[in-house]
Amino acid sequence: MINILQNYSLKKLNTFGIEALTKHFVEINSEKDFLELLENPIYKSSEKFILGGGSNILFTKNFDGLVIKNAIKGINIVKEDGNSIYVKAAAGEVWQDLVNWCIGKNFGGIENLSLIPGCVGASPMQNIGAYGVEIKDVFEELEAYDLQSGKKQTFDNSSCKFGYRESVFKHAGKNKFLIVSVTFKLFKHPKFNVSYGAITEELGKMGVKELNIKHISQAVINIRSSKLPDPQKIGNAGSFFKNPEVEKGVYEKLKSQNPQIVAYALQNGNYKLAAGWLIEQSGLKGHSQGEAGVHYKQALVLVNKGNASGNEIYSLSEYVLQTVFAKFGVKLEREVNIM
Ligand code: FAD
Ligand code: EPU
Repeated sequence: MINILQNYSLKKLNTFGIEALTKHFVEINSEKDFLELLENPIYKSSEKFILGGGSNILFTKNFDGLVIKNAIKGINIVKEDGNSIYVKAAAGEVWQDLVNWCIGKNFGGIENLSLIPGCVGASPMQNIGAYGVEIKDVFEELEAYDLQSGKKQTFDNSSCKFGYRESVFKHAGKNKFLIVSVTFKLFKHPKFNVSYGAITEELGKMGVKELNIKHISQAVINIRSSKLPDPQKIGNAGSFFKNPEVEKGVYEKLKSQNPQIVAYALQNGNYKLAAGWLIEQSGLKGHSQGEAGVHYKQALVLVNKGNASGNEIYSLSEYVLQTVFAKFGVKLEREVNIM
């Protein structure tokens, strides 16, 4: 049974802690709820926005439409073959609950993605990634309803068009689908991914002798907790910008002018630059404008230091973009979804 609320505050539903009102709000707890919603006149006449955990959104204004909060729960094993186990999770499951569930069963593949906030349904949106793993590495398929036709369809790995913090759902499929489940192809006999130097270092500090996925998860949690601000304490949405990709020639020129520049070679011959380094070297680490700030420990993260408005955070992001461009000639791109 659905209950559509009016003029609803989204402040507690976004990790930036920004005040914004939506004209209509509804939480759905099952696919049946969604099918009921489809028949509602408010649904039919409103612009729609799907909300998960609100950890990758900046609200800059009130929303004159219907926010649908996806709270559909459930985690099940759906198939098994060879060394693979297929786990289907409903979109409203909290991502970390799924990670813990998999670790409890010793199913490997997503332990490096520990402690990423948000819900399962949003994980394919920007192909979440951290510490050497991206969702596309373990993604089997997802099910989504077309918001207009109400028809359910399945997307496999290639139809999601995954890239670095990218998918079809940020482009041609933007605001067009309600993802209801995601199926992951995991390892019954986990392979450990410790390619990211910091993990090996942390495992050493933890004194781990016989490695398992729980240790990797704990190492990732330790590293993340030491660097990233906790949204429960200070509003933020993780990295506000993407790490920019530049051509080899551009990188070499920058490197000759800035020998300390932090960059990684990519397989296509280009280089990925650490945006946090560019922002810090532009003198902006810890910089504030009103209650909007660049985090003092991780310059890639913008924070709400109190009661910043979405527009204050957005203006600060514009200032960061312009300052980095003026200093390095590199154009940063926002990672966070702006509403
Ligand atoms: P929301 O913010 O609610 O939504 C994000 C987008 O997805 C919106 O466009 C929304 O419309 C859409 N969406 C959400 N659910 C659905 C659905 N069911 N169907 C259709 N569309 C949907 N991200 C990383 O990749 N790596 C990191 O290491 C990382 N670290 C973070 C650290 C912190 C402290 C924070 C605050 C954020 C971090 N993030 C990271 C960003 C964020 O956690 C992820 O992008 C996460 O997947 C967002 O999930 P969410 O449920 O909160 O999505
Ligand atoms: N750096 C600085 N100054 C800073 C911040 C970073 O010089 O203020 C340098 C660091 O010293 C390091 C490099 O930049 O050499 C990279 O920093 P870090 O390892 O913290 O990772 P990141 O590039 O800032 C990315 C992701 C994170 C992800 C981590 C770990 C993006 C946009 N961000 O951050 O994802 O958790 O790597 O894999 O790709 C997110 O998307 O919200 C997010 C947090």
